[in-house]
Amino acid sequence: MKILKDFDVKNKRVLVRCDFNVPLDDKGNILDDFRIKETIPTIEYLVRQGAKIILMSHLGRPKGRIVEELRLTSVQDKLREHLNLSVAKAQDCVGKEIEEWTHRMREEEVLLLENLRFHEEEERNEENFAQALSKLGDFYINDAFGVSHRSHASIVGVPKFLPSAAGFLLEREVKTLSNLMENPGKPLVAIIGGAKAEKKTSLINSISKVADFVLIGGLIQKEARDKNIQFEQPGKIIEPVDNIEEKDIGPETMKIFKEKIFQAKTVFWNGPVGHIEEREFTKGSETLARTIVESGAFSVAGGGETVEFINQLGLGDKFGHLSTGGGAMLEFLSGNVLPGLQALE
Ligand code: 3PG
Repeated sequence: MKILKDFDVKNKRVLVRCDFNVPLDDKGNILDDFRIKETIPTIEYLVRQGAKIILMSHLGRPKGRIVEELRLTSVQDKLREHLNLSVAKAQDCVGKEIEEWTHRMREEEVLLLENLRFHEEEERNEENFAQALSKLGDFYINDAFGVSHRSHASIVGVPKFLPSAAGFLLEREVKTLSNLMENPGKPLVAIIGGAKAEKKTSLINSISKVADFVLIGGLIQKEARDKNIQFEQPGKIIEPVDNIEEKDIGPETMKIFKEKIFQAKTVFWNGPVGHIEEREFTKGSETLARTIVESGAFSVAGGGETVEFINQLGLGDKFGHLSTGGGAMLEFLSGNVLPGLQALE
């Protein structure tokens, strides 16, 4: 896989696929700009190299139609804030006018395209659409780890038409997550929470091949029992022994989980262990987060809700790696080949 530094991008138009799919409140304000912040090093590098930078992303699931609340205007504002540069925004993401615009751009200028998913051809991975996007750049950079499990035009189509490479965010995600599965500091303790046991089964099976212990949350435990889901390495799974109203782990469980975390050299965490949307059931997850930090183990966490929670506690910079991937991270760690990565080979 080529990386950004393999290209001489001076004075070139560099089309960067980002994952600016950030959570919004009902007024369209960004609730957590973690994914935007994580892309800044790639953009700043391109600015320093004198490239012309064209950024593209999806936001939400508008299903091929223009949805006013899902325009990338709030993302444009955040980018301006973090880059301390002016960032222009186009009203669309393809077309003659935008193509001409990219040819008029000067070095170090940044242009943000409109939401890719306003065109249904994006998710359908239509070749014409990928080709139209590819006309906006001389190089293509994928810095959208979070969407690399989708076979969409901007992920797998564009690399067919342009010299392509991974951006810094994508490169770091692949390195850290590969290392977690192939060469982790041992003991490795994985904590898998969240609600949908079926969605997490392949992750639990795959991580239990390398982990010493896999601690699971109460909801997964319950669903696995109800649906008779069998894990491949039951001996490594540690289940909760008590709970609070079936919505959080209880004090005895916390004691056992803490003891395991303090033994670890590496900790991986995906999914809260309680109903954190209700304040009174955040205690288990908060204690876990603080214990992970206190343990001094190399820590990797991922999944939108988990990362948002860690950042809300102000502990983001105390973790070794926070993944920008939700579904993409689950698939990667389950051993599946991500189409977006394959497209860069
Ligand atoms: C995500 O939020 O996981 C990515 O941006 C992918 O979004 P999607 O699930 O709507 O494809």
